[in-house]
Amino acid sequence: MDFPFHQDVIKQLQADGLFRSLRRVEPDPHGHSGRVMIGGRSVILLASNNYLGLADHPRIKEAAMTAIQEYGFGSGASRLISGNGPSHEALEKRIAQFKQTEAALIFSTGYMANLGILSCLIPSEGLVVADRLCHASLIDGCRMSGCRFRVYEHGDLDQLERLLVKKPANQPTLIVTDGVFSMDGDIAPLPKLIELAERHGAVVFVDDAHATGVIGKNGRGTLEHFGLKPGSVIQMGTLGKALGCFGAYVAGSRVLIDFLINKAKTFIYTTALPPAVTAAALAAFDVLEKEPQLRERLWQNRNYYADGLKSLGFDILNSETPIIPIMIGDDRLAMIVSQRLLEAGVFAPAIRPPTVPKGTSRIRTTIMAPHTREDIDHVLESLGQIARSLRIR
Ligand SMILES: Cc1ncc(COP(=O)(O)O)c(C=O)c1O
Repeated sequence: MDFPFHQDVIKQLQADGLFRSLRRVEPDPHGHSGRVMIGGRSVILLASNNYLGLADHPRIKEAAMTAIQEYGFGSGASRLISGNGPSHEALEKRIAQFKQTEAALIFSTGYMANLGILSCLIPSEGLVVADRLCHASLIDGCRMSGCRFRVYEHGDLDQLERLLVKKPANQPTLIVTDGVFSMDGDIAPLPKLIELAERHGAVVFVDDAHATGVIGKNGRGTLEHFGLKPGSVIQMGTLGKALGCFGAYVAGSRVLIDFLINKAKTFIYTTALPPAVTAAALAAFDVLEKEPQLRERLWQNRNYYADGLKSLGFDILNSETPIIPIMIGDDRLAMIVSQRLLEAGVFAPAIRPPTVPKGTSRIRTTIMAPHTREDIDHVLESLGQIARSLRIR
């Protein structure tokens, strides 16, 4: 059963060239995590958040299989009922150590973490201010807070300060930002955000989904990148990106975590993560610590690729991380570039509105540690040819 308006919406999306459908992606038969099979062909994968290639790391797979042998698969209940096992607690302890905070709490997904945390974090008389390019889960969470919600243009700290100056001094206030912006690949100006927060009695909430395992000397995220202490910042992050697992966390004070255990609905009213997932994530933190060469390799690849794109004349916005957008602008042209790339053996989807603002359709590429130099050279060569043939530079 569907409603008549569903067909209308689909037709409109098709007419606007914005209709989305699923594409089947299968693993590379030779076990190369920088490649996948699409339509029976092995192609270079430039569309994964598995930055370090940990999703099929032998130690992580083994940890998951051992946990399945020991505990079975499902956790059977929510954490507060009977779903809280030793590996959930061990993982939270490990995350708190990693983030250098008093405590941490895991959630089923990053989307659920952001909804659950932001909807209860500050009282409804508060003010929530977010960067316009924050991830959809943050924006939804801000709306669900029930507070006055204001948005400032991407990185516009003057506008942010104007919003903060106007509020009553004692109004509970939250500044919400991505650490690494998921579509532009730039890093939030956290030192300045913290300075503004301190000056105006606000707290900063940073989403380190794309920063965890990627930026900072030890991969600890945005705070480590800038050499900052956790202090008054609330840090959220995910386990499904560079850590190659699934789930999410928030790290902060013991009081914050106790509060969330009691008030965050997306934590309370949902089945606990399977022990195989938490055990795998624990192993992923071990790998992160013991194999820093993976992060080094990721950054070597990232810099080589970004330099190559710039020397070909592509606009990669202010990307500073392994997320590198190639700005196209027009929705349909972005689709054509993505299609031509696929024909050339490179999988890099076009990202269009509503995921990105109108007129900023792009090819969003993500580089990974397992990519080889030959892979990257092939991508650069293909992009150069496509751009020449479509006259887009
Ligand atoms: C910045 C950001 N936050 C949160 C999420 C949601 O995380 P998850 O995939 O674990 O739901 C994502 C995922 O795309 C993200 O990019």
